[in-house]
Amino acid sequence: MQEFLNGLTRTDMCGKLSAKDVDKKVVLMGWVHRRRDLGSLMFLQLRDITGIAQIVFDTDICDQSLLQKASEIKLEYVIAVCGFVRLRKEGNTNSNMTTGEIEVCATELRILSTALTPPFSIGDDTAGEMLRLQYRYLDLRRSKLQQNLILRSKICNIARNYFDECGFCEIETPILGKSTPEGARDYLVPSRIKHGSFYALPQAPQLYKQLLMMGGMDRYYQIARCFRDEDLRANRQPEFTQIDMEMSFIDQPDSIINLVEGLIIRWFDRLLNIKLAPHFMRMTYAESMSRFGTDKPDLRYDVEIKDITTTLNNCGFSIYQDIINDNGYIGAVVLRGKQAELSRKTLDRYTEFVKGYKVKGLGYFAVEEGSIRSSFAKNLTPQATKDFEQKLNLAVGDIAFVICDKVAEKAQTALGALRCELASKFNLIDKNDYKLLWITEFPLLEYSEDEGRFVARHHPFTSPMVEDLPLLDSKPGLVRAKAYDIVINGDEMGGGSIRICDTEMQERMFNVLGIPEEQIKNRFGYFVDALKYGTPPHGGMAFGLDRLTMVLGKIDNIREVIAFPKTQTATCMMSQAPNVVDKPQLAELGIEVIKE
Ligand code: AMO
Repeated sequence: MQEFLNGLTRTDMCGKLSAKDVDKKVVLMGWVHRRRDLGSLMFLQLRDITGIAQIVFDTDICDQSLLQKASEIKLEYVIAVCGFVRLRKEGNTNSNMTTGEIEVCATELRILSTALTPPFSIGDDTAGEMLRLQYRYLDLRRSKLQQNLILRSKICNIARNYFDECGFCEIETPILGKSTPEGARDYLVPSRIKHGSFYALPQAPQLYKQLLMMGGMDRYYQIARCFRDEDLRANRQPEFTQIDMEMSFIDQPDSIINLVEGLIIRWFDRLLNIKLAPHFMRMTYAESMSRFGTDKPDLRYDVEIKDITTTLNNCGFSIYQDIINDNGYIGAVVLRGKQAELSRKTLDRYTEFVKGYKVKGLGYFAVEEGSIRSSFAKNLTPQATKDFEQKLNLAVGDIAFVICDKVAEKAQTALGALRCELASKFNLIDKNDYKLLWITEFPLLEYSEDEGRFVARHHPFTSPMVEDLPLLDSKPGLVRAKAYDIVINGDEMGGGSIRICDTEMQERMFNVLGIPEEQIKNRFGYFVDALKYGTPPHGGMAFGLDRLTMVLGKIDNIREVIAFPKTQTATCMMSQAPNVVDKPQLAELGIEVIKE
């Protein structure tokens, strides 16, 4: 049944036809989306990447044999249709279709490929996601998914042109690299030639791009595939893509921030027709934590955390007083005008929710008409109650949530999470809005309870802020880094830093991280050596392309912006990767699998 093109070429795309094309002779090719057989008249909807066109087989115009052939066509057959464009009859126009004014009157039909009945209707994104992932090639025929991939491609294209204009060179770096400690878990690839040795897939091209700067390449960028074997969340994939860049002869974050703002402005302008201001808001990590309890605040709603530690000093309530006496912290967030919508049961649920952030509990204080509903007000002195209400500017209908802890960041993180939860529950977020900001002055290090040592917050090649260097050995936790993240609508879109560019400083950093000499030599030896041969001051950053596509396309699910994504268990539903391999293949690699 399959026919060949035999020189037939497509003249037009289905979704692009309009009343301007009336009488034009066209050749369209695509998939049969819908069919309607009315006996002497047959309608098909033909779909390609640009949209859908209505094809009509009308015995007034074509002969019976063509109609007969058309009636054999099933959904998802791939066909070529020759015909001419005409206006639809009065009453038959469809304002829901961009091509709804016209139809193509068929004069010839070729069946290029037949199709089995698909396991779900094409375009139906309510069909189970696992089923759609199994038949990804069918789900890819869905217009929304195609649009997402087109958007992704445009983002890359704009970036490529921008970097090119700014004198950057696109350079590929190896996929088979060396495992380095720190960061997420590596994906390993066994060597066939050297049994017992492994390559690691890159978590990012970090070291290579720095080596390119040492190699004199001056300005580099790459649309780089990265691999991280980490716990997957809504906006994480085990393999994802970065728009990665690095530049030489700079030593301040401003140089990167200013350059990259130009790119972001261009993305918003060309893709969304939104004109952003020439510079975005900046906020230090410390300010962001104290006001929003996170390093990626969503500024689309104005609920903020208030520090009420001093307000509650001498408040009469021993739990709060003990925290204050212990140099701890008490903070609050206020939900305005909604207290009546929060039942006791809901409040209990929020208490459980914040306990997930390792704080002990959640106090609430709701102002009702003429009375207070609160978990702690009865313990406060009248003066403390007044001060509390005044500090938080509470009015009838408002409810304040209070969290205390010995460690300010812990309480702030819990309040920050509650802030987001309340915003989403009470629809406080303006979904049409975009709020961008830079977070700067991150802590260089953070203490890992699990490892009992300081670990790099960004990566071990990030430069400390010069003014904090004296604290590096005595109070490493207080040292700030020349690091920055770009945050859009509460999501980290990218991050980077100015790098350490001298051996002494790099070794000092490894020391603070407690990485043994032997390990430094083994894992980073080549890199530390390279630093000794003339290193320009340099820095860079990387955007998460998947997340960027999500935010620009207003797409919630990361799998909707990747052609062949993995599930939460890092599995490809279509190919069933990862999978077992044959024994001889393992033997060749010198590997034996231990069954669990
Ligand atoms: P970082 O680890 O912050 O920096 O990564 C940069 C950006 O990549 C995105 N991202 C992810 N996207 C999807 N799935 C994941 N698992 C995932 N992990 C990260 C985020 C993030 O902001 N080499 C440094 C950059 C530099 O210093 O130049 C780096 O990799 O949007």
